[in-house]
Amino acid sequence: MITINCIGAGRWGPNLARSFSNLPDARVHIICDLREQRLEVIRKRIPGIETTTDANRAIDDPQADAVVVATPVQSHYALTKRALQAGKHVLVEKPLCSSVEQCEELSALADDRGLILAVGHVFLFNNGIRKVYELIQSGTIGCINYIHATRTNLGPIRDDVNAVWDLGAHDLSIFDYWLGCPPVAVTARGECYLNQPIDDVVVASYTYPGKVLGCVHTSWLNPRKVREITVVGERKMVVWNDMDLIEPVRVYDKSVDFAREQDYTDSFGATRMSIRDGDVLIPKVPGGEPLQLECQHFIECILHGTKPINNTAAATQVVRSLLATDESMRRCGVEVPIENPVRAPEPELVATA
Ligand SMILES: NC(=O)c1ccc[n+]([C@@H]2O[C@H](COP(=O)([O-])OP(=O)(O)OC[C@H]3O[C@@H](n4cnc5c(N)ncnc54)[C@H](O)[C@@H]3O)[C@@H](O)[C@H]2O)c1
Repeated sequence: MITINCIGAGRWGPNLARSFSNLPDARVHIICDLREQRLEVIRKRIPGIETTTDANRAIDDPQADAVVVATPVQSHYALTKRALQAGKHVLVEKPLCSSVEQCEELSALADDRGLILAVGHVFLFNNGIRKVYELIQSGTIGCINYIHATRTNLGPIRDDVNAVWDLGAHDLSIFDYWLGCPPVAVTARGECYLNQPIDDVVVASYTYPGKVLGCVHTSWLNPRKVREITVVGERKMVVWNDMDLIEPVRVYDKSVDFAREQDYTDSFGATRMSIRDGDVLIPKVPGGEPLQLECQHFIECILHGTKPINNTAAATQVVRSLLATDESMRRCGVEVPIENPVRAPEPELVATA
């Protein structure tokens, strides 16, 4: 049995506590928040749970094997470092930290101590996202031309990070997973309408190896809740719609085919493009709540000493991309290169491996 203490009981933390409580191999002992009024709500929801406003008490609790950090990103580094130094495994929410240096320091600390450090990139546990990964890997959709993500809603409005750090972090983790590598450059524009200087809307374009474009539109100032990604491949196109709980993935057998015109001697128009408009396939996607699967994976990593899928290397790449996005926005959309120590795979591997 793994004992977990949770720090941060705002909007998201209680979901993590609930998911761990549902697992047969885990139990939640202490929930911590700086705000007593949040703890009052928690005590009503989970009778008998211990609560504290002191994060050190949750971390140093001798009963705890692991700590969950679900606070705003600015406190992730200090709380996670403190928990790792106390010998606890940590699941910290995304984005991992505010700087690459902090991410790397925490990653090294976890490795040195033989502790699991996982990051809450929950879409890596979404079965629709995994189904699209399978379609890409099997070569079904061919080489990818571009990907377009929309992640909008009216609220929740954050006052700690902008829309791309809050929402786009998910899409970046998904793109990196699907394509098997991080982006090499970004151009982005953001605008603040509500609460200076935090951008409520960000439109960013990431360049991945092989000329693959990854576009992300994020906003909490939008009338519709949309969680949708379109993948345009050379052979087929796929739409993932997280709001469709039953049929989240659709594969469109559509493409533009190039045909060589035999009796055309003029080089202009020697190849003809034709639209292929075929069937729409709805593949079966297994059920399973992504957050529950993420929590279960964390417990399994602790029990078996295995490296998490949602590891710090992948999470650090996301932070690198987010920092470059901020820089591009500051410089009114100029292209900013993204330095990545990880070697990018050959472009054809993206489609056919
Ligand atoms: N994976 C997801 O889908 C997902 C969804 C929502 C939020 N998140 C992430 O979860 C984290 C928290 O987001 P939220 O929406 O719950 O924020 P929130 O502002 O609603 O809640 C954060 C809570 O942390 C508490 N807190 C802050 N510093 C603390 C400290 N030092 N010790 C104890 N408590 C402290 C605050 O009092 C607050 O109640 C963020 O990193 C966010 O990106 C992830």
